[in-house]
Amino acid sequence: MKPTIDHFKKEGYYHGKSYFNIPQIEELHTEFNYHFEEKIKRFNERFEGNQTNYGANHDINRWNMLLPSDSQLLSSGFYAEPAIMEILHEVFHTDFSLVFFSSDIAAPGSKFQQIHQDGNDFAVALNIPLIDSDEVNGATQVFPKTHLVSENAVFTNDSNEFTDDEIIERANQQTPVYLNVTKGDFTLRDLRLIHRGTPNNSAAIRPYLSAIYLPVENNEAPTFETIEKGLEVFKKFKQEAFPTGRVDLIDYANTFGRLVMGMSNSDRIHRPISKKISDQLSEQALYCLRFSKFEDATLNNKIVRTIESSQALENEISNALIEFEALKNSPTTTH
Ligand SMILES: [Fe+2]
Repeated sequence: MKPTIDHFKKEGYYHGKSYFNIPQIEELHTEFNYHFEEKIKRFNERFEGNQTNYGANHDINRWNMLLPSDSQLLSSGFYAEPAIMEILHEVFHTDFSLVFFSSDIAAPGSKFQQIHQDGNDFAVALNIPLIDSDEVNGATQVFPKTHLVSENAVFTNDSNEFTDDEIIERANQQTPVYLNVTKGDFTLRDLRLIHRGTPNNSAAIRPYLSAIYLPVENNEAPTFETIEKGLEVFKKFKQEAFPTGRVDLIDYANTFGRLVMGMSNSDRIHRPISKKISDQLSEQALYCLRFSKFEDATLNNKIVRTIESSQALENEISNALIEFEALKNSPTTTH
């Protein structure tokens, strides 16, 4: 087995060093900064006068931002580079899809996150640091081997069922590693791996581009109409949750948004990909993004939009509407 793949399977992550050229990363950084400033402006306008407990949209001074489709960030195809695809094809035991084309931003003042797994299910996160990152400005800390059910277990794509308490207990048995990165590096992380964001004690924001790849069984998905309905409900939840500052409502809204995109195998339905951009994408980049909505209709035909998939999403939407209403009216702590 190649050392890269062996490392990923055994340790739960892989750190690719000096892979991208610096001018390319700097160009992506410039474009990222433009979009992030716009995002903050929109966020502050929308929630003006109603400070959330987070001061951001994800955690204390931490942001997630989906990246636009009409951008070099997408057309550059960094998420489908050969070295990355080689590892992905080896570690996924099924087909996969790039479902969240996003970014993780630790702003100054962000704190240690709770030690956590991003999920109990196997998936892979790619991070591209846009600046150098270390213990000072919030490099991610990982607990090696904790993606496996036990330290010497064989790597599989099976889900695990660890509770929050078990996660802490497992993390305490390992020595954490700071994933200190420099511009041009990339990291791949098994989503089951225990990790946490660390404080950003510098004066500058620490942005990582991120791509989350999820396993997919087949090329079926709900109709665009049903997905759009789910995304409208997500928007409504956010509009109601953020001004209250209530963490339970904000988390519910965000979790529901991820569910809709997860069941769609794409976050590119509200962010369709123009023909001008898709014409620039490699075969592998188009493979990663095949569940997106494309202006080029021939690319949409790769996915079968079935009644069963749509119905499953419809059911989730109906349940969420009831649950969110109940949560809103529940006497939980307000912040
Ligand atoms: Fe995380």
